[in-house]
Amino acid sequence: MIPRHIAFVMDGNGRWAQARGLERAEGYKHGLEALMRVVNRLEQLKVETVSVFAFSTENVARPSEEKAAIFEQVIKFNKTYRGTLRVLYVGDIDSLDEDAAESVEEIERRTATNRGTTLNIALNYGARADIAHAAKLAADVGIFTDEEFENSLAFAGAPPLDALVRTGGEKRLSNFMLYEAAYAELFFLDKLWPDMGADDVDDLMKEYALRVRKFGK
Ligand code: IPE
Ligand code: IPE
Ligand code: MG
Repeated sequence: MIPRHIAFVMDGNGRWAQARGLERAEGYKHGLEALMRVVNRLEQLKVETVSVFAFSTENVARPSEEKAAIFEQVIKFNKTYRGTLRVLYVGDIDSLDEDAAESVEEIERRTATNRGTTLNIALNYGARADIAHAAKLAADVGIFTDEEFENSLAFAGAPPLDALVRTGGEKRLSNFMLYEAAYAELFFLDKLWPDMGADDVDDLMKEYALRVRKFGK
């Protein structure tokens, strides 16, 4: 069985660069290349939806040079990507700087009719704020069904999350997809994100196929 929806916390970019005596910025550059390798393989395998954590609301506290290096890669991807993915952004995009926000709008428009895998990129996203926001919307309309609530979450419309992978050795979710991860299979890899490639995706798929999902039954 192939997952319909798989998510990645793309962690370990800074350490990857530092271990090579490079600036952390180099880690984000190679991180984008790893994202392309991983998503291309998942697209070949016909995975419907891939969601990745690119920048958390807490990452705003990082030094400005580092944030600039991360956003440089985001904008580069948005402006140059020409493949078959349908790219959607999740998170507080409006409060980003104009160049970044415009590039997000542009790639979403350009890939809207693509038929390949959907790539959700979580940027300036935090799951707790997303849940609080959805609860507020539900309260405002006075409808508090599970369905109404779920339709107000940032990932509304995506298939149920089947698997969540974190690279970089840390075993925590760091405020990513807390609601959606309820019954996701969890994978924690020591490998640093820029080292990820097609073979790692194949290994994950093999391990996923061996997991017995019970959903409480
Ligand atoms: C994760 O990589 C990506 C972002 C936070 C944007 P890190 O920058 O956290 O890399 P490490 O964990 O410090 O190696
Ligand atoms: C999570 O990684 C955020 C992204 C990968 C974008 P962090 O590096 O920010 O998480 P912590 O600080 O180790 O929990
Ligand atoms: Mg990190």
